[in-house]
Amino acid sequence: MSTPENTPENEPQEGFVDPGLADHRPRRADVEPKANKRAERQVAALFGLSVVGTVIALWAYFTKDAGDGGDVATIQSVNMWIGLGIALAMAGIGFGAIHWAKTLMRDHEMVEERHELRSSDEAREGAIQNLKDGAEDSGIGSTGTKRRSVLKGSLITAVAIAPLAVLVPQIGNMGGDWNISKFRHTLWGPGVRLARDPDGELIKASDVTMGSVFHVIPEGLNDLDHHHKMVEKAKAVVLLVRLDPADMKPVAGREDWSFDGIIAYSKICTHVGCPVALYEQQTHHLLCPCHQSTFDVADGAKVVFGPAKRPLPQLPIAVDDEGYIVAQNDFDEPIGASYWDRLKGDGSSADVEEGSH
Ligand code: FES
Repeated sequence: MSTPENTPENEPQEGFVDPGLADHRPRRADVEPKANKRAERQVAALFGLSVVGTVIALWAYFTKDAGDGGDVATIQSVNMWIGLGIALAMAGIGFGAIHWAKTLMRDHEMVEERHELRSSDEAREGAIQNLKDGAEDSGIGSTGTKRRSVLKGSLITAVAIAPLAVLVPQIGNMGGDWNISKFRHTLWGPGVRLARDPDGELIKASDVTMGSVFHVIPEGLNDLDHHHKMVEKAKAVVLLVRLDPADMKPVAGREDWSFDGIIAYSKICTHVGCPVALYEQQTHHLLCPCHQSTFDVADGAKVVFGPAKRPLPQLPIAVDDEGYIVAQNDFDEPIGASYWDRLKGDGSSADVEEGSH
């Protein structure tokens, strides 16, 4: 009868036999000079492709203002070529390096025995000492403070101002103008007709059938010079939809801001300003593709989902004698991200709560 000491499970197992390495199989490039040369050419071609990609990206960047460049289609095309160029440049280097390593670099098996993960006490102490020595050598250690104070100062300065490389272009894009009142006013005003984006064709109330959606700009926007057109368009774009008036929930004080179910809202998302453009006719929901904020067009464009904190600003509209849709006035609140909602047009603090009108 077996005892717990001599059951098969408890018997000492034979040691695991290391199968060793499989026989080395040389690659073609190792044994055939022609294959070696071919691989070399392939790697060089991939690196060459990378150079071409870089040239394409630079060419696209530096020619972006050529000709009448600057319209939306041109900007999209330039961005596409810059992106493709950079992708080609990175991919060329990456694939070239991989191909080089796999075909041309030395091919031999190495065995590295596992060792205890924890370093020995001597090695740990040595590492700490190395760090201390390094700190002293670089002048940022305790005794090197005076000696390297210039280096320390310049390092801190460099790190501190590095973010400017990102911020300055942003400020430049804003024209160096931090006066946020410009977000308070748009081209809309009393009697300004609504026009289709991008061709500028004026819109009659009879054009707006039930369930239809129009991307709208103010009349005359296309007559501005390119720079001003882009700046003003970015603030004034509007989405015009027509609902069954019976589906619309009245918003106090806005009873006459729409016309027979035709209603207009700013297209600039109140989260961080993406264009809100996906309209679902059945639910009357407007979706922002950036972070999925969803606004209920039938209910004052209130936020029903997502990170936006306030409704889309509504453009008060009416219909003129010739049947064209016109704005009654500008928006009554800043368009865009909720941040601007906290300030009045004159830049002073306002007692406006998020989510209120
Ligand atoms: S910008 Fe619209 S949800 Fe973020």
